[in-house]
Amino acid sequence: MKIKYFGHSAILIESDDANILFDPFITGNPWASNIKVSNIKADYILVSHGHGDHIGDTIEIAKNNNATVIAPYELAMFLSKHNINVHPMHIGGSFNFPFGKVKLTIATHGSAFIDDKNNIIYTGNPCGFLVTLEGKTFYFAGDTGLFYDMKLIGETNEIDYAFLPIGGNFTMDIDDAIIATKFLNPKNVIPIHYKTFDIIKAEPENFKNKLNDTNTNVLIIEPTKEVSI
Ligand code: NI
Ligand code: MN
Repeated sequence: MKIKYFGHSAILIESDDANILFDPFITGNPWASNIKVSNIKADYILVSHGHGDHIGDTIEIAKNNNATVIAPYELAMFLSKHNINVHPMHIGGSFNFPFGKVKLTIATHGSAFIDDKNNIIYTGNPCGFLVTLEGKTFYFAGDTGLFYDMKLIGETNEIDYAFLPIGGNFTMDIDDAIIATKFLNPKNVIPIHYKTFDIIKAEPENFKNKLNDTNTNVLIIEPTKEVSI
């Protein structure tokens, strides 16, 4: 299996069974300026909430690949107007897909699409995702502040890889992401949602250095790079 990181919250998990893409913000993502949207191969696209830096290029990639978009119900309905395949879910619900299991978790954030005329179209609740495939469990927190139920998520799941935002301002900062890591107790934590914009200028190395006294390995993946797991 491989994890490819496009920067921000855009992540591709490539497995033998399926390519799973999270929050594919490519166009306008300064980390991903050399990435061609048309080259991205995805079978499923998981979208955590309606903000532009998370919906990103979902519609184009879904059309190019005939992929299925998995999202909270209201967001899935909003996206389905663009004639793409959607599988709506909601918080606390899980479903067994051909590649593995997906469960939606809470995220403390907003969820709305802002159109060209600055109209705000609310798209329900934001979410995080627990994904199990090929015997590995991934927790993608989405955009969120720290919440105490992360302890419950950690107690009820053996997480192999947790993707946590560290950038602050819109989400957890480094200090809160450290508390989150202790609650979740994953084998590996991968910091995301940092340095894309000046307002979220956190250094992943600072997160790594500050996170001690845990059994968790900090895996920093440089944007546009991939790691084999
Ligand atoms: Ni957001
Ligand atoms: Mn965001």
